[in-house]
Amino acid sequence: MTWLQTLPAWFRRAILRDRAARWNHQYASGRWERLKAPQEAARLDACATLLRRHVPGGRLLEIGCGEALLQQRLASGDFSRFVGVDISAVAIERARVITANDPRVTYLTADMRELELAEKFDAVIFTESIYYVPDPAAVLRRYARLLDPDGVFVVSIFQNKRGAEAWAQIHPVTTVVDRTTTTNAAGSWDCEVLRLR
Ligand SMILES: C[S@@+](CC[C@H](N)C(=O)[O-])C[C@H]1O[C@@H](n2cnc3c(N)ncnc32)[C@H](O)[C@@H]1O
Repeated sequence: MTWLQTLPAWFRRAILRDRAARWNHQYASGRWERLKAPQEAARLDACATLLRRHVPGGRLLEIGCGEALLQQRLASGDFSRFVGVDISAVAIERARVITANDPRVTYLTADMRELELAEKFDAVIFTESIYYVPDPAAVLRRYARLLDPDGVFVVSIFQNKRGAEAWAQIHPVTTVVDRTTTTNAAGSWDCEVLRLR
């Protein structure tokens, strides 16, 4: 049970609604346009390379997908199914417009701590999203249920204090299968392929 689940349901709903409203406001006001800058493409390409290496043509679930920036860095043959989930309905609406013509792709609005899905996946991906929840290890445990027995997590985190705190919670409960670091003028990002211990 996470700290959020210990709260009364009405209070939990109010908190989650507030968080969604904040992200929606930020997307609508253009704050996240910077994620479309060329420097950001490098860290997304690093994740795409790890996905091709470990789950070629796989069933992919991306949590905190924003405006489908990762999916746009993948070739059509890199996945057989792609589900993207984000708390921001504004971001998801934009993702749906970009990817509308591919029947293998679904974009859903949901909070990563509440989402329930019946499908199984070969990889569950968090690119710059897992550190927005207070308990990343609990989130990984939650999504392990949706992974095939051979499935992996792919987690990308920007190098800063907050990122280091997130890895400090993630590493004790995972084994690192592969990793890559991307560095450019905007900073450094670590992308790791992980299995839950
Ligand atoms: C910095 S953006 C990264 C977007 C995209 N993954 C990328 O790499 O460019 C963080 C994303 O996480 C989403 N997010 C934050 N908290 C979330 C939550 N609790 N559940 C689902 N998505 C969440 C935000 O709406 C936002 O789209």
